[in-house]
Amino acid sequence: MTLSTRTTPAMGWNSWNAFRCYEIDEATILANADQLVALGLADAGYDTVVVDDGWQAAHRDADGTLQADPVRFPSGIGWLGEQIHARGLRFGLYLAPGRKTCAQIWDGYGHCTRGDAVLTPDAALIAEAQTGTMTPPESGPGRIADLGSWQRESQDLDLLTGWGVDYLKYDWCMAERETDLQEHRGPFARMAQLIAGQDREIHYSISEYGFQAPWKWAGEFANSWRTTDDIGASADSVFQIARDTAEHAAATRPGHVNDPDMLHAGNLPSPVLDRTHVLLWSMLAAPLMIGTDLRRVRADDPIVAALTDRVALSIDQDAEVSCAVRTNAGEGVDVYRRTFAEGEAVLAVNTGVTEVTIDVPPVGGPIASIRIDGHEVGADARRLTIPSWGAALVRSGARWAV
Ligand code: GLA
Repeated sequence: MTLSTRTTPAMGWNSWNAFRCYEIDEATILANADQLVALGLADAGYDTVVVDDGWQAAHRDADGTLQADPVRFPSGIGWLGEQIHARGLRFGLYLAPGRKTCAQIWDGYGHCTRGDAVLTPDAALIAEAQTGTMTPPESGPGRIADLGSWQRESQDLDLLTGWGVDYLKYDWCMAERETDLQEHRGPFARMAQLIAGQDREIHYSISEYGFQAPWKWAGEFANSWRTTDDIGASADSVFQIARDTAEHAAATRPGHVNDPDMLHAGNLPSPVLDRTHVLLWSMLAAPLMIGTDLRRVRADDPIVAALTDRVALSIDQDAEVSCAVRTNAGEGVDVYRRTFAEGEAVLAVNTGVTEVTIDVPPVGGPIASIRIDGHEVGADARRLTIPSWGAALVRSGARWAV
């Protein structure tokens, strides 16, 4: 069995939220890997660098083997993996189970230059995908070949394993269109079986956006499964995805977790929201995959403090690995509760645009600590004033006492 045996949620950096398929290349990926180390993020636990969709050349070779995009990754993906490993980091890559990857459908991948008309999804291809009339491989004006792994799962996984991949993101992308894949569990389980047959330990992150209730079946074989559609860089998206994910709290257990999607911290409209986002994801025991361009980040930027916050990370990486539930649906304040071996944590999130004042929520025992926006306010506080998009964290249990 060589599926990953890691029991706590994965941590790392992924190219997608910062770049989609635009502007990624080997120098950009390695510069971000360097920053992961230089900013102390790797030491804090962010140990995996994942190249998401967009690494592939437009065509497979004559044997049907996927190839690296020759312009963006001229040194090859195996070389890139070596470079990432040489930095003491783990290496992840993206595949899709159907005929197309998502960037082929939504980003006109192949062209994929920011500012180009292809920022608009390829309407023709989406219509074909939705009506099941996709053009056959290699045909269609300006189209690129099928880069999905349908009927080539084993070949593609072997390729990645040979490149030293430690982490696979396997992403649905309308795989049911023009294939024999209708229910989602089977194709994901099949890839898990193939991974289990490999010598390399591979962390298996699946993504089908919660369409076929993966919280009911993916825990049998995947390390994480997406619970929702893609995250956006907005407060509404962060708050709604957290609510939706907490609905499935019972599915999370050590080694197998709900995935509310990658972090947008660093890309959000305010540092307060960045911090709340990281805390919320930690309460959900979510994988923490950084999705901002770290080349722009300086060591004393608030985003580094938010991402390395020891309280947030100790909650996220708690050995019991449980997902918070939402305990009230009050106007403007979402309250999440998570129970640990000892004590509880309650996170009250102000989802509105003005500050709110609330009574201290009960936390199943004597209060050990209360923090608002990263600062201790004293365990004996009675009322808490939380800024817009900020959060108050209340904890019981000696472990948390300050
Ligand atoms: C989907 C996924 C994203 C990303 C893109 C790549 O939208 O949900 O996380 O992997 O595909 O094209």
